[in-house]
Amino acid sequence: MSLRIGDTAPDFQIETTQGPIRFHEWAGGSWVFFFSHPADFTPVCTTEMGRTAQLAGEFAARNVKPLGLSTDSVKEHLAWISDVDATQNTSLKFPIVADPDKKVAALYDMIHPGEDDTAAVRTVFIIDPDMKIRLTMAYPMTIGRNFSEILRVIDALQLTDRMTVACPADWKPGDRVIVRPSLSDEKAKEEFPQGFETLRPYLRLVDVGS
Ligand code: BEZ
Repeated sequence: MSLRIGDTAPDFQIETTQGPIRFHEWAGGSWVFFFSHPADFTPVCTTEMGRTAQLAGEFAARNVKPLGLSTDSVKEHLAWISDVDATQNTSLKFPIVADPDKKVAALYDMIHPGEDDTAAVRTVFIIDPDMKIRLTMAYPMTIGRNFSEILRVIDALQLTDRMTVACPADWKPGDRVIVRPSLSDEKAKEEFPQGFETLRPYLRLVDVGS
């Protein structure tokens, strides 16, 4: 059965480019951006790994650890990382899981046989410090992911954990957010003393800064 939002991210023990890890222990109270890709030495994957490495500062600022995975070996990953660094002008520092036996790929339902029988598609799991899955996405093999969206959704999740708000369509940091309908007007006035605009009783907008 596939994993769903709100499920506990399954724990596992596996080899990575930075040695063996036990997943929950490795996460160590951080958020995790866990993402699979089809294969080493392929063009789209090379750009995605490069982009993740280039964004190391953005992930760290949000207390997020990236963890890649493909069904290749540690030896192949390490040789490929040299290509990623050279062609994407970066220095890849996060671990990549080596899963030639497809153990973790099966656990996380990363192989979609309608797309490919053996290689993982481009899945994303955003996992919070309590090891709850907060977002899942799956992209086909021929389409690279949008890393602005990945950072945006992490910002949105962290904001909605801090405040009783929800993020509207195309929200980006700094935009107004929605006061969650579960909050009465009275409680909303307490949480948002700056005030909010009521377009409909169920649609109230508040500026919470960026
Ligand atoms: C790529 O990363 O470029 C790729 C991998 C598998 C299938 C198609 C493209």
